[in-house]
Amino acid sequence: MQPSPVAAAYLVAGILFILSLSGLSHPKRAKRGNMFGIVGMCIALIAAAFGLGEGAYGWLAAALLPAVVIGAVLAIRVKMTSMPQMVAILHSFVGLAAVLVAIATHLRPENGLALTDTEIAIHKIEIFVGVCIGAITFTGSVVAFGKLQGLLSGKPLMLPARHVLNLVMIVSTVWLGWEFTQADPHRATFLLLGATAITAMLGAHLVAGIGGADMPVVVSMLNSYSGWAAAAAGFMLDNDLLIITGALVGSSGAILSYIMCRGMNRSIVNVILGGFGTEGGQVARVRVDGEPTPIDADAAVAMLKEAKRVVIVPGYGMAVAQAQHTVAKLVNLLTKRGIWVRFAIHPVAGRLPGHMNVLLAEAGVPYELVVEMDHVNDDLPDVDVVLVIGANDIVNPIAEEDPSSPIAGMPVLRVWTAGTVIVMKRGMASGYAGVDNPLFYRKNTRMLFGDAKETSDALLAGLKA
Ligand code: TAP
Repeated sequence: MQPSPVAAAYLVAGILFILSLSGLSHPKRAKRGNMFGIVGMCIALIAAAFGLGEGAYGWLAAALLPAVVIGAVLAIRVKMTSMPQMVAILHSFVGLAAVLVAIATHLRPENGLALTDTEIAIHKIEIFVGVCIGAITFTGSVVAFGKLQGLLSGKPLMLPARHVLNLVMIVSTVWLGWEFTQADPHRATFLLLGATAITAMLGAHLVAGIGGADMPVVVSMLNSYSGWAAAAAGFMLDNDLLIITGALVGSSGAILSYIMCRGMNRSIVNVILGGFGTEGGQVARVRVDGEPTPIDADAAVAMLKEAKRVVIVPGYGMAVAQAQHTVAKLVNLLTKRGIWVRFAIHPVAGRLPGHMNVLLAEAGVPYELVVEMDHVNDDLPDVDVVLVIGANDIVNPIAEEDPSSPIAGMPVLRVWTAGTVIVMKRGMASGYAGVDNPLFYRKNTRMLFGDAKETSDALLAGLKA
């Protein structure tokens, strides 16, 4: 790219995106990180518009204005618990855009002119790779959206010989790719459209085969794919900023997927091969002895008043009940009484990466009280009371005790090693992974039944009294 105001603006935007990612890696700097991202994106948009020239302004305005309004309305309206669906559907747009850019680049009449043979070959590979990644991202994200939104069944689609089917689709795509690089423009168009159809089926089939507890990793992987799709589009359009941004999104999504897989003790390959999660939509039953022991809020308050060390484990139910503000007040009161209190955060608590951290930050909980799973598990035997608020899978001992369980090997918060565990949930329902939880039947567990907001309110009132 020649030095120009547009190139300089792209460079500034690229730097702002890197600063944004670095800011988002810590809750204290996250707001500033977001700001860098917003400013970078505004600069990028304005620079891209200038780069297009006057003739394109009408088209750009027609596409941009409704998009900005729709995006803003959706972002304002979306509930925190529906954020994964929103992210999934946004990824699908990036995938679709990459497919359209690739096909348009191929169909451009001046395509290939003034290029050497090697450059033409590279250009064709860019187009083909762009179509494939884009189509996989598009249909995969649409299926992920359907599953998360409840429009499609959450259980994994287990077609007979599904791995063979995937392999056939991959081999055919590679063959089409080889033929595409050799073919004349007319035949190449058919080969490209064929590859688009096959990779679109592959994306849908891959994600349909993944179920239940692996969806967070899938959304993060699709995030990574959407980045690579954008980078591929950047190569085709000769747009450096798109390449930089795509590479940033692609690699950060891949790193996040890796971190999440580690959090569930799974490998990426194992996740992609699918089949994990809610087995046929049934709850995985576990043999348990005894009955759960219910308590009321007064008894729970008495235990908290007696405690010296308290750990709170928030989960999806706290998000649903929107109990975080009451819980923050509860912690304030406990701390004022001289009780040591910490929040223990599991990497996949809730329904999206960092879900609990966002809720607690929103409620004004000081960062130093929020501790990651790895730093709290060894301290739990010294804790008097653990309050499990709307969490289930992330505190399920079966993950460590039964190698045949669907969540076997998933690291969990070992709350049962503490003095007493108070579980706050509405009933005995299983969590996202659809697995019974023997924690609820343990001798040192007490069940405080009810909506997490109502029970937290009752605890707060009891502590104030
Ligand atoms: P879950 O295992 O899903 O358990 C949540 C529990 O909250 C349920 O058992 C439910 O029981 C209870 N609950 C629901 N609404 C409630 C309310 N209003 N008041 C009180 N309790 C309520 O949640 P978790 O422990 O946070 O684990 C997260 C799970 O989601 C993991 O399996 C994880 O893999 C998966 N997942 C995570 C992500 C990310 S990235 N965080 C994304 C998608 C999926 P009752 O109905 O009996 O009340």
